[in-house]
Amino acid sequence: MTLTEKIKATALFLQNKGLAKVDFGMILGSGLGELAEEITESVVIDYADIPNWGRSTVVGHAGKLVYGTLAGKKVLAMQGRFHFYEGNPIEVVTFPVRVMAELGATGMIVTNAAGGVTHGPGTIMLITDHINFTGQNPLIGENLEVYGPRFPDMSNAYDKKYQATAHLVAERTGIALKEGVYMGYSGPTYETPAEIRFSEIIGANAVGMSTVPEVIVAVHSGLRVLGFSAITNHAAGKQAELSHDEVVKVTNQIKEEFKTLVKAVLAEL
Ligand code: 6GU
Repeated sequence: MTLTEKIKATALFLQNKGLAKVDFGMILGSGLGELAEEITESVVIDYADIPNWGRSTVVGHAGKLVYGTLAGKKVLAMQGRFHFYEGNPIEVVTFPVRVMAELGATGMIVTNAAGGVTHGPGTIMLITDHINFTGQNPLIGENLEVYGPRFPDMSNAYDKKYQATAHLVAERTGIALKEGVYMGYSGPTYETPAEIRFSEIIGANAVGMSTVPEVIVAVHSGLRVLGFSAITNHAAGKQAELSHDEVVKVTNQIKEEFKTLVKAVLAEL
């Protein structure tokens, strides 16, 4: 099967499982998947049952696709994503985004847990732009002309109107929202202190191992993107390392505000 045939086959499979209109795709990162539990009138499908779908191997990722209503919108949420460092081919990492677009989504909300370069642990960062430092690009290969152009413009990868809405809603709900540039590494190693100094010099505010491939494919497919990073820890060399317990504590604190914010923003998109 060609990639296009796979996309169509998977979309049809999901429609037969009860998926109807999709307004927004959502990709929920490590520790942030709980939001999917608030989706009502839901259809929940295990990744293992979906044809052409990847496998989630990371602890803290549920590996479920959840469709239904959230904040008055029809959403298709990934509870757990695929990472390149898990050994997934890059087209497998981004395949769900292709399917979201195929199912009619006009926007996508991406979330991740990230290391702070200029922001500290506990910060919710609105992603304004990214640096693709993964060494990969999911659009390498034959261009799928029906989805988008050979040379996609990345100058407005993260939708400006969505960003403005996020800031307005954050202010209204009293949730502190910073913003910044997300730099995507392939992982699975964390960065060295020298790499983090380099990241800061070239303009990164946070670093992580996800999101960039999915956003590239979303932009190619014409989806408007809204992205949030939950800063769970300092990047290397920034300050004394947090213990795993501290990281879990920060994630749990940030999670509640995060869920409130994303729902409130979604309602306004
Ligand atoms: Cl410090 N680096 C990367 N690449 N990903 C992360 C992280 C750091 N903290 C959470 N995710």
